[in-house]
Amino acid sequence: MSTNIVWHEATVTKEDRRRRNGHHSGILWFTGLSGSGKSTIANAVSKKLFQLGIQNYVLDGDNIRHGLNKDLGFSAEDRTENIRRIGEVAKLFVDSGQFVLTAFISPFAQDRQLVRSLVEEEEFIEIYVKCPLEECEKRDPKGLYRKARNGEIRDFTGIDSPYEAPISPELIIETDRYSIEECADQVLAYLRQKHFIKGDGSYGV
Ligand code: ADX
Repeated sequence: MSTNIVWHEATVTKEDRRRRNGHHSGILWFTGLSGSGKSTIANAVSKKLFQLGIQNYVLDGDNIRHGLNKDLGFSAEDRTENIRRIGEVAKLFVDSGQFVLTAFISPFAQDRQLVRSLVEEEEFIEIYVKCPLEECEKRDPKGLYRKARNGEIRDFTGIDSPYEAPISPELIIETDRYSIEECADQVLAYLRQKHFIKGDGSYGV
C-alpha cells in the first residue's frame, strides 16, 4: 500500500471535458463467454459512435493481456486483478470525457460490481453479450474451446472455469439471434433512450 500520497484535483474537470466534447461519458461494459461476440459488437458500436463524432475507445481482453496485463493468467485471482486494473483504466477514460467500451469475459459478478462501484451510477452500463456455450463452441474463432476440451488449456471459461451471468444488466444482446449490425444498433438505441446521444445522431446530454 502506498502511503504519504495526496490526491491532486484536476484543473480541467470531467464536466469541462464533457461540455467541450458535447456529450456524456461512461463505460460500456461488455461481458460474456469467449466467442460470444464482445469484441466484435464493441468495435461495431465504436465505429458508429466515431461516425457520430462521439469520443470513444475500445479496451479488449486479448489486446490488454499483451501489454498492461501480460503478467496475468487465468486463475480466479488473476482474472480479478485483470478486471480491477481495467476498471481503474476505464474510470480514467470516463474522467477524460469519453465513452470506453470494454470487452472482457469478466466472469465474476463481484468483480463487475467492483468496477460499477468505482464510477457514478449512470456511468456504468453493463451489457451482457448472451450466446449459448454450444454456439460459442461451434464458432470457436481461436480454436481455444477445442484445446480446452482436449485438456490442452486449463481453467477455460465455460468448460472448467465458471461464468456468472449478470442478473440485472442494463442491456442484454443476443448474438445468436441478431446480426452484428442489429446488435450494435440495439446498443445505440439504448444510449439514445438514456439521452447519452440524441436520436438524430447529434450530441445528447
Ligand atoms: S477475463 O476472464 O480475465 O475477463 P479476458 O477477457 O481478459 O478474460 O481474456 C479472455 C481471452 O483470453 C479469451 O477470449 C481467449 O481468447 C483467451 N484465453 C486464453 N486462455 C483462456 C482461459 N483459460 N479462459 C478464458 N479465456 C482464455
